[in-house]
Amino acid sequence: MLSLFSLQLWSWMCPSLTILYSAEFWGDIAKDFFWKTKHTGQFLDYNFDVTKGEIFVKCMGGASTNICYNLLDRNVHEKKLGDKVAFYWLGNEPGDEMMVTYRELLQRVCQFANVLKSQGVKKGDCVSIYMPMVVELVIAMLACARIGAIHSIVFAGFSAESLCERILDSQCSLLITADGFYRGDKLINLKLLADEALRKCREKGFPVEKCIMLKHLSKETEETALGSQSPPAKRSCPDLQVPWNPDVDLCWHTLLLGASDECEPEWCESEDPLFILYTSGSTGKPKGVLHTVSGYMLYTATTFKLVFDYQPEDIYWCTADIGWITGHSYITYGPLANGATSVLFEGLPTYPDVSRMWEIVDKYHVTKFYTAPTAIRLLMKYGSEPVQKYKRESLKVLGTVGEPINPEAWLWYYNVVGEKRCPIVDTFWQTETGGHVLTPLPAATPMKPGSATFPFFGVVPAILNESGEELEGPSEGYLVFKQPWPGVMRTVYGNYQRFETTYFKKFPGYYVTGDGCRRDKDGYYWITGRIDDMLNVSGHLLSTAEVESALVEHESVAEAAVVGRPHPVKGESLYCFVTLSEGVMYNHTLEAQLKKQVREKIGAIATPDYIQNAPGLPKTRSGKIMRRVLRKIACNERDLGDISTLADASVVEQLFQNRCTTAV
Ligand code: WT7
Repeated sequence: MLSLFSLQLWSWMCPSLTILYSAEFWGDIAKDFFWKTKHTGQFLDYNFDVTKGEIFVKCMGGASTNICYNLLDRNVHEKKLGDKVAFYWLGNEPGDEMMVTYRELLQRVCQFANVLKSQGVKKGDCVSIYMPMVVELVIAMLACARIGAIHSIVFAGFSAESLCERILDSQCSLLITADGFYRGDKLINLKLLADEALRKCREKGFPVEKCIMLKHLSKETEETALGSQSPPAKRSCPDLQVPWNPDVDLCWHTLLLGASDECEPEWCESEDPLFILYTSGSTGKPKGVLHTVSGYMLYTATTFKLVFDYQPEDIYWCTADIGWITGHSYITYGPLANGATSVLFEGLPTYPDVSRMWEIVDKYHVTKFYTAPTAIRLLMKYGSEPVQKYKRESLKVLGTVGEPINPEAWLWYYNVVGEKRCPIVDTFWQTETGGHVLTPLPAATPMKPGSATFPFFGVVPAILNESGEELEGPSEGYLVFKQPWPGVMRTVYGNYQRFETTYFKKFPGYYVTGDGCRRDKDGYYWITGRIDDMLNVSGHLLSTAEVESALVEHESVAEAAVVGRPHPVKGESLYCFVTLSEGVMYNHTLEAQLKKQVREKIGAIATPDYIQNAPGLPKTRSGKIMRRVLRKIACNERDLGDISTLADASVVEQLFQNRCTTAV
C-alpha cells in the first residue's frame, strides 16, 4: 500500500501526465473484466470546456459488456465464488437474518430479469424502484442492469410527493415497491405511499401502468422464490395497510412462479445508461444524475478495492441506504464486482439500543466498516460504554462519507471505535462523481483528522478563486476537477442544459463540485463545506464546518450547525444551533464557554453572535442538516420553501419557538 501512496502523490504532482497515465492504469484494470467486444479509439475521450463545444465524457467507446454479468456470472462461473456469501441480510428486528450466496443471487436476478421482460420492459426503458433495504432491492436493480433497463431508485424514506416528482421526471414505465417496513419502532406503509404517488402521477397525466409489489412484512412462507428465503417477519404488524389495485398491481412472488432462472444478459455499449439517481439541486428541483455502464463499473470496483484495501476474506459493511449513491456504489456495484461478502442492514444504529452496530460487527466479524459522520456523532452522544460492551477485534478499516467530519468525531471514531488500530478513510465524493475522488488509502496515506487527504488515481483537483484563477500551494477556494475519471456523471437525465450550467458554466474548463476546499502546506485537501454554506463575516470567508467543529469540541455539545444571519455592519453574523449531550443543561455559563471556545479556536472573527439550544436539528432522511431551513429560522422567516425531504418537520416549529432574539 505504501507504493500506492507514492503513486497517489505522484499523480497529484504531475497532473499533465495523469491523463496518459490514467489510460494505462484503467486499461490494465479493464483487462480484469469481461468485454463482449473490445473498445476502439481513446480510452477516455472528453471535453470539459464549454467554450470549446458540448461537454462530454466517453470511456471505452465501442466496447460492449454487461455489468450484471461481470458482478455475478463471472464471479460464479469463472472465479468459482458460487458458494461465497454475497450478503448477510439483517432485518430491523434483531434475529431477523438470512444470507444469499453469489450463485443464489445470480439465479434470483435472472428470474426477476425474466419477470421484467415478461412485463414488457426493454433495453433503455426506465424502471423506478421504491423499496426498503432488502435483498430484493439489489435483485431488482441488477435485474434491470441485466436487461439494459435504467433503474431509478428512490429512497424509501422519501414522501409520495417526491416519488411522484421523480417518476414524472424519469418517465418510467414500471414501479417496483414493497408492502411496508419497520424503521425501529415505526411502521412505514410503503405501498400506501407508492399508491399515493401513482395517483398524483395519474392526475398529472402520466399513468404508470404497472406496479410490482414485494411482500416484505406480509410474506407467507409458502411463497417460495428460488434460493434463500427471507424468514417470515418476526413481529406481527396489525397496522400494515396494503391497498391493492388489480388493474395496476402485480405480486412479486406470483410473478416469479414459473420464471426461468436463466437469462442471457443484454450486451450494452460502454456509454449506455446504467441508472439515474436524483440529487437535490440549488433550484429545489432534483436532478437525475446519469451514470453509464463501463466507466462506472471500473471506477466503483477499483475505488472499493483500493480505498477499503479489500481482501477476499473481508466482511464488509456499509451502513448507507441503497437509495443513495453510497449504497449504489459501495453496497451493490463495487463490492459485488470484487466478489466481496457484505452485511446488508435494514435497521437503525439506535434500535433496539445504541450498541446495535457493534453487536453486528462482533457477530459477523466485520473487517471493513463504512458510515457517516452524523451516525458517529449520534453514537458519540452516548459515550464509549455502549461501544466497549463489544470487542470489535475484527475491524481493520473505518470509513466515513457524506459531510466534513469534525476532528472531534474523527478522533472518537479512531480512538474509541477503532481503538487506534484502524486507519480512517475519509472519502470525499458526490452522487455526481460516482465514486471516491478525494480519499486516503488505508495504512498508506498519513492521516490528518478531518482531511479527505489526496485525490484518487486519475483525479486532478484544483482550487480556484472567485475570478477562476487556479491557486497554488496552501490556499482556499472553490474545489474543481480538471479532467474526468471513468465514473463521473454523464448528464442530467433529460436536461443536458442543466448539466452544463450546474457543473461547467461558472468556471469554463473545470467540473465545479460546489464545495469549498482548503489545501494546507503539506498538500492535504480539507473540504470546508458547500460553497453556499460559506459565511462572509466582515469580509472574511468562514466555513460553517469550521465553526461547528469548534463548538462540537466542547464536551457538552453533541452536534452543532451554524448559519449566517444578515448583519448590518459585518455582512453576516454567526447564528449557532447546538444540540447538547445526554443529560447536559443549557445555561449562560455554558453559552459563554462556547463563545470563548470558538473565539479561541478560530479567532475573534468567528465569535458566535447567537447560540440557540436545539434539542433536534432539521435533517434530511439521509442525515444531512438542512442549513437552508436553519437560515430561515435564524431570520424568523416562515417561508421555508420545499421541505419535503425533512425527516421530522416538528423540529422546525420547536426551533422557531425558541429562537434567539438577542446576541450573546
Ligand atoms: C456532498 C455530496 C458521496 C456520497 C454521499 C453524499 C459532501 C461528501 C464528504 C467528505 C466532506 C463530504 C460534499 C459533497 N461530502 N463526502 N468526506 N468530506 N464533505 O452524496 O448527496 O451527492 O452529497 O456531500 O459537500 O459535495 P451527495
